Amino acid sequence: HKDLLEISQLDPDEIAHIFETAARFAEVNQRPIKKVPILKGKSVVLFFAEASTRTKTSFDMAGKRLSADTFSLTKSGSSLQKGESLKDTALTLQAMNPDAIVIRHWDSGAARFLAERLDCSIINAGDGWHAHPTQALLDGFTLHQVWGSFAGKTVCILGDVAHSRVARSDVELLTMLGARVRICAPRTLLPAMVQTWPVEVFSDVAKACEGVDAVICLRLQLERQQAGLLPDLREYACTYGLSPRHLEKAKADVKIMHPGPMNRGLEIASELADCGASLVLDQVASGVAVRMTLLHLYLTRARISA
Ligand code: CP
Repeated sequence: HKDLLEISQLDPDEIAHIFETAARFAEVNQRPIKKVPILKGKSVVLFFAEASTRTKTSFDMAGKRLSADTFSLTKSGSSLQKGESLKDTALTLQAMNPDAIVIRHWDSGAARFLAERLDCSIINAGDGWHAHPTQALLDGFTLHQVWGSFAGKTVCILGDVAHSRVARSDVELLTMLGARVRICAPRTLLPAMVQTWPVEVFSDVAKACEGVDAVICLRLQLERQQAGLLPDLREYACTYGLSPRHLEKAKADVKIMHPGPMNRGLEIASELADCGASLVLDQVASGVAVRMTLLHLYLTRARISA
């Protein structure tokens, strides 16, 4: 494929290759001099119509560490603010002949819209509620670095699944790699399609965490809640915010993850976010290595071919 729009475009062999390459880039990222000349002369546009700290910075850092030129465009600093359409914005960017556009947009399908119209590689950095494939790859890579294999592992995804593109992409990736996946959420925050997913669905957090090897907490997406359906935040924190009591029957070496940004004390107890079992900052570090890998693969078509 020329584009990375969702996890289903990849197969387990391609994901294994991404993890192997990312492990090598993770080592490069530990060196005093981290820059390598692999993408010298290539240009990457970071088109972020929605806010981002981790994804945007790590793609920028990834591109620069590979010696590509990166150019940032955000909603507030672009002509989207003046009402320019996504199509015209895309055609304008295309006319500058970049090698890739990394796009984050509030519309599910925005990345595909660009991919179908532009010649350069499109990498989906999160589109609406649909997909966040690079987050799933970095989550999978983080766990792979700890476990080596997903066979026999159970992962619980906890929280606002309905509005979470991370949950959708994580379910696709983790099940493809052989993990069992549980979803735990209040009924109002489960997507209608959840019955068609290859997951077990829970509403009780302690039960959902029994015997699990990892819990991925999701951000309560306050900005995407439908009018009148916003849960009572104190009740949500008490019932669905991950706390040590929920993990009493989890595996002794359970790992705790969160894609960020975290609402501490709402979907995750602060002490868990900072404890030895937390992989939250490992996920961030993995993000740079995984995004270096993806830019390398998609800009040189080294292995993932059309
Ligand atoms: N996980 C994630 O996508 O974080 P940002 O919104 O900060 O990029």
